[in-house]
Amino acid sequence: MVRVNTHYQKLQAGYLFPEVQRRIKAFSAEHPEADLIRLGIGDVTEPLPAACRDAMATALEAMGTGTGFHGYGPEQGYHWLRQTIVQHDYQQRGCPIEADEIFISDGSKCDTSNILDILGDDNRIAVTDPVYPVYVDANVMAGHTGPADDQGRYSGLQYLPLTADNDFCAPLPAPPVDLVYLCFPNNPTGAVATRAQLQRWVDYARSHGALILFDAAYEAFIQDPELPHSIFEIPGARDCAIEFRSFSKNAGFTGTRCAFTVVPKTLTGHTRDGDAVSLWQLWGRRQSTKFNGVGYVVQRGAEAVYSPAGQAQVAQLVKVYMKNAAVIRQQLQGLGLAVYGGQHAPYVWVKTPDSMGSWQFFDQLLNGAHVVGTPGIGFGAAGEGYLRLSAFNSRAQVEAAMARIAQCRLQ
Ligand code: MLT
Repeated sequence: MVRVNTHYQKLQAGYLFPEVQRRIKAFSAEHPEADLIRLGIGDVTEPLPAACRDAMATALEAMGTGTGFHGYGPEQGYHWLRQTIVQHDYQQRGCPIEADEIFISDGSKCDTSNILDILGDDNRIAVTDPVYPVYVDANVMAGHTGPADDQGRYSGLQYLPLTADNDFCAPLPAPPVDLVYLCFPNNPTGAVATRAQLQRWVDYARSHGALILFDAAYEAFIQDPELPHSIFEIPGARDCAIEFRSFSKNAGFTGTRCAFTVVPKTLTGHTRDGDAVSLWQLWGRRQSTKFNGVGYVVQRGAEAVYSPAGQAQVAQLVKVYMKNAAVIRQQLQGLGLAVYGGQHAPYVWVKTPDSMGSWQFFDQLLNGAHVVGTPGIGFGAAGEGYLRLSAFNSRAQVEAAMARIAQCRLQ
């Protein structure tokens, strides 16, 4: 008899985005004439930067030649891409990161889950609430939690509330934890961390021997030059943090797949006997065994993000989406709604009107305005009473969505 991983049976309903899709599909089946505007899942809509497309086209041509063909690449990524990333994203910001501490991958969603492979089963873990659901579900699947309570909170996890009262900035864990997931700019609240706030986290992690899993997938959307883009801009972070970065949101690689994870060589975990073990070595070993690397063509595309043309085109993409976020913020504020985020992140976190529940507001916008958002409660119990709107769409669609919401709210 084949046994299954019964930890999966603890998972709540479907993964959030497929569940939203299921509801949209049901609505569309009943209302085939409805022209939906999707501001739900954070999937980009603008085409790839021309510099990336051209680099990939050139690489693809080369793959069809005897001299330009590439078979298996290094599992950790080609050195030329790792070196380029280090120069632009780290050394130019004064972060002491080396090329062989960069591990190229096919996505931050995969890496933030897969990282659990190299960590023990008995770590005390903290997540924010609301949170990107992948961090929680991956821990449930790995058997790191007990069952969920009727609010959807799993026993064995410490939830750090992100609320308007604490400016969506999580309090430090008490009692102490070994592992904490942080995401800045934040998905879903759109909040961003200052240098002083990140320093508090690094100091906390170092004094408790904890590890910070820092998801910086949205760093390109930071507008204020004073705000840190990387945890490694913070002194001491090399001893307590792993960082996840992605080309999905800045350069539109959601369908192309390329990301990277930074594991400093100075980072250690411990065996039960207290012996220090290099996490860099473990992650390298894990990737060499379970991953065959990102395709050569895609890595050439990612390299082009850092070319002068690529940088200008990425800046333009960010500008388009951030202007959308500003339009969403402005229009909804004009309707008297409380809105958060959207200033350094492509997500606007909207307080539902009249203490309405998240799914109720989702349904109201879907039925009344044919606009799709993401219910805040899907990101955790503390997300109840909020809805997330994504700025990833065309300006025309965002403006049309806001006009429809205004009309439906005024009725
Ligand atoms: C989101 O909508 O939260 C994102 O699409 C999640 C992701 O990047 O996987």
